[in-house]
Amino acid sequence: MSKILAFTNQKGGVGKTTSTANVGAGLARAGQRVLLVDLDPQANLTKGLGLVDAEQNVYGALLGEYKLKAYPLHSNLALVAGSPALSGFEKVKGDELDREFLLKELLEPLRERCDYILLDCPPALGLVTLNAYACAQALYVPLEAQMYAADGLEKVLELVSRVRRRLNPDLSVGGIFFTRHDGRKILRRETAEELRELYPGLVLTSFIRESIALGEAPHLGQDIFTYAPQSAGATDYQALVAEILTR
Ligand SMILES: Nc1ncnc2c1ncn2[C@@H]1O[C@H](COP(=O)(O)OP(=O)(O)OP(=O)(O)O)[C@@H](O)[C@H]1O
Ligand SMILES: [Mg+2]
Repeated sequence: MSKILAFTNQKGGVGKTTSTANVGAGLARAGQRVLLVDLDPQANLTKGLGLVDAEQNVYGALLGEYKLKAYPLHSNLALVAGSPALSGFEKVKGDELDREFLLKELLEPLRERCDYILLDCPPALGLVTLNAYACAQALYVPLEAQMYAADGLEKVLELVSRVRRRLNPDLSVGGIFFTRHDGRKILRRETAEELRELYPGLVLTSFIRESIALGEAPHLGQDIFTYAPQSAGATDYQALVAEILTR
């Protein structure tokens, strides 16, 4: 039975998509069967992994137009495509009963066939994100270590406690980890240390350094292990994968 992990932060541009792609690719290389789901209307995960002509996406499946379609990328790695139409999901669903559980129902039949399902959440806490939280076991929150980084985190943690009470008692925070880390910047070092004190046990040991290759790989439709296996980005995501596997 698969473990469902959601990469989430309501803050934009913190590395949710980069982490979903590369943790997914790393887990697949470690022999895990992995399914990625692009839940962001920007569809950056889909484009960044080189899937350009997907006819069926998560939005159509959520509306019940067809079954969830997973496109194979590599051995052990497949992707459910995102769609710009996802931005209208909340409006279309209005106050329909059980609208928070649509993704959970779609994923249910796939759970026997995968070890991990990774959800790339949009930078907002709307209905799409609620659908992700309603079916996930663990949330992973990427943070850029800088001032106000904790604001996005607070909002996620507030929502987690509400979701636990109402939608998904099994939801937990798998971990918080720093991305785009630059050890030369004192402010960033301090923020990271403060957060470790505030949330002991939640902040992962691994962190992802700022690395040019991580920004380049999606332009070629590749994960970091394919694009630049010797890069700092590959080393850092490899360590994060190892840590996630132990949790
Ligand atoms: N460690 C890193 N080093 C260098 N560039 C990075 C790193 N992590 C992410 N980036 C780049 O930063 C930008 C934002 O990253 P990403 O798309 O993963 O964030 P996101 O949280 O998914 O954003 P959004 O909230 O818009 O969905 C991208 O251009 C990505 O390539
Ligand atoms: Mg993203």
